Amino acid sequence: MSDKATLTIGEKSFDLPIMKGSTGPDVVDVRKFYAEADHFTFDPGFTSTASCESKITYIDGDAGILLHRGYPIDQLAEKSSFLEVCHLLLNGELPTADEFRKFEHNITYHTMLHAQFDSFFQGFRRDAHPMAVMTGAVGALSAFYADSLNVDDPKQREISAHRLIAKMPTIAARAFQYSQGRPFVTPRNELSYSENFLRMCFSVPAEDWVPNPVLTRAMDRIFILHADHEQNASTSTVRLAGSSGAHPFACIAAGIACLWGPSHGGANQEALEMLEEIGTVENIPAYVQGVKDRKYKLMGFGHRVYKNFDPRAKVMQKTCYEVLDQLGINDPLLQVAMELEKVALSDPFFIDRKLYPNIDFYSGITLRAMGFPTNMFTVLFALARTVGWISQWKEMFEDPSRKIGRPRQLYTGPTQRDYAPVETRG
Ligand code: SDX
Repeated sequence: MSDKATLTIGEKSFDLPIMKGSTGPDVVDVRKFYAEADHFTFDPGFTSTASCESKITYIDGDAGILLHRGYPIDQLAEKSSFLEVCHLLLNGELPTADEFRKFEHNITYHTMLHAQFDSFFQGFRRDAHPMAVMTGAVGALSAFYADSLNVDDPKQREISAHRLIAKMPTIAARAFQYSQGRPFVTPRNELSYSENFLRMCFSVPAEDWVPNPVLTRAMDRIFILHADHEQNASTSTVRLAGSSGAHPFACIAAGIACLWGPSHGGANQEALEMLEEIGTVENIPAYVQGVKDRKYKLMGFGHRVYKNFDPRAKVMQKTCYEVLDQLGINDPLLQVAMELEKVALSDPFFIDRKLYPNIDFYSGITLRAMGFPTNMFTVLFALARTVGWISQWKEMFEDPSRKIGRPRQLYTGPTQRDYAPVETRG
């Protein structure tokens, strides 16, 4: 394989070094190209652009492969725990038993929020979308932890990462309880991460909360499936915000804002609402025709990188069956989803565009069965993705070649012209 690419413009040729990864596409290094050729490269949406070098997550979109530090997502979902995956993403290796005990203790003892923080929620209307609350609340954490402002100090970066992983469930549960008009529930240190979260969401002072191990396992697995996903839109947002040296909590708030979009993390809410709109299997053909007529997109389908099955969607579908079975729920929307998937996967419109179910297609049915309203779905995605965001943010700071992100543009606006007095206009 060649170690350089040659680009010719007019009479001039420019040699561009090729950098090789451990797997996946190599890259053409264009960092010096503008200085040498007085041309920018052009790639809105970054469909062909690597924004960074990373060792955290690898996706092979054609093969439907997702690895976290080399471990396949289906093995992690089956055999690991979310907190163990957090250690893996943050530190690069699965923890030893002793390392896990220390990590779990560290996270557990950061789950509480500053007592004053609870009044922050009172500023929201009860019907505020929980993602609006998450965006505001996580950004506000910047005001509470002035002791970790120095992002160039690895110890302060580590404490911020632990605080975020630990406090996101507490904030998310408060956003949920606030929207339901129920009192906030304090975390309990004897509970596991996902059990603690479910208790903070669903327990009420009027009776003892009874954990359901199947739902706890399902929640933990759903968090694993959503933990990280290479340089997606929200992760790129966190990296770009972090490249200016902004406070990590503010960077994560920026990631939450980006994730909320319906083309990204907001798709899990949109996908369930789509299934509700379709309603019955009989309505599927008409709805699919609307997709083909470009009236709307099939939510929970398609992906920028996966042009094959999203490996997370398969695990999500299996988890969906387990939860519905455990709860004895026969959700008609599951039948609609399965039939819709079958119709779409056999229709040339979707086959030609390589549109397959993504992680958001089955997550909504599962989360609704667990008792979450649709407006909480993306909050759960943000809770889980926080470890991915902060791991990528941490990796950026460990890269000695780090620079502030500052893309350029192709300018097609007016060239220089003189100011015209108002009486000469029109
Ligand atoms: C997530 O990046 C990540 O990794 C994201 C994520 C993560 O973990 O961080 O995986 C999480 O965001 C998953 C995606 C959730 N979004 C949705 O389910 C919303 C529906 N999907 C689409 O909006 C779309 O598929 C995207 C945004 C996900 C991807 O869009 P791309 O890569 O920009 O693809 P495209 O728009 O260029 O689509 C190619 C063609 C187009 O048709 P043509 O103009 O070529 O004829 O496919 C069509 C699109 O119109 N198309 C769809 C479609 N998705 C793409 N048509 C109908 N329904 C869809 N869902």
